[in-house]
Amino acid sequence: MKNYPQYSTKQKWIHWLTAILVFLVILLPLLKEHLAYYLGGMGNLFTLHKSIGVIIFFLTLWRIIVIIKQGLPKVLPKEEKFQRILSKSVQGIMYLLLLILPLSGYLMSGRSMNFLGLIQIPSINLPNHVHGFFHSVHIVTAYLLIALLCLHIFGAIYHHFWVKDNVLKSMLPSRWFN
Ligand code: HEM
Repeated sequence: MKNYPQYSTKQKWIHWLTAILVFLVILLPLLKEHLAYYLGGMGNLFTLHKSIGVIIFFLTLWRIIVIIKQGLPKVLPKEEKFQRILSKSVQGIMYLLLLILPLSGYLMSGRSMNFLGLIQIPSINLPNHVHGFFHSVHIVTAYLLIALLCLHIFGAIYHHFWVKDNVLKSMLPSRWFN
């Protein structure tokens, strides 16, 4: 065991798996003109986008349950009150967005969705203006998430290379630092 606070192995797995999936789910629609060709068309591209979104939703619920059960390590010292509040707020809002984004994505469409081409998830029929509302929510929260992700990644890099503390290490496999 290392002498600095660390996230549990389960929390590290959920974090890095979510990071990869969020990267993909954002990249797919933003680069759809280029990627659709390689994925066999726009339909497949959006089936993948939606399916990854559903996985992120359940992964985030699981993450919240794990945090409630295990708690979080105190990676920032008590004296750094401002940074602690900033990092906790950014993390909390990101978890919220990772739940709102898939839900709004699901509710903005009047059509049923196909999870990985395996399971048909029926749509909820709502008035057109309500679908439109969730569409706007999806787009606005997507860009908010991208902004917060930049802040989050900048924070991790700043701590690792500038402050040279253990914040980034607390989320990496401890065997890397033997
Ligand atoms: C964490 C999960 C998700 C993230 C981060 C996310 C993010 C995004 C982003 C960045 C865009 C492009 C916005 C733009 O064109 O400017 C988008 C579009 C879209 N998303 Fe998602 N999404 C998620 C989940 C979902 C889910 C679960 C569904 C449906 C079940 C969905 C359906 C769509 C659709 C249909 C579009 C195209 C909207 C349009 O062209 O106007 N998304 N999403």
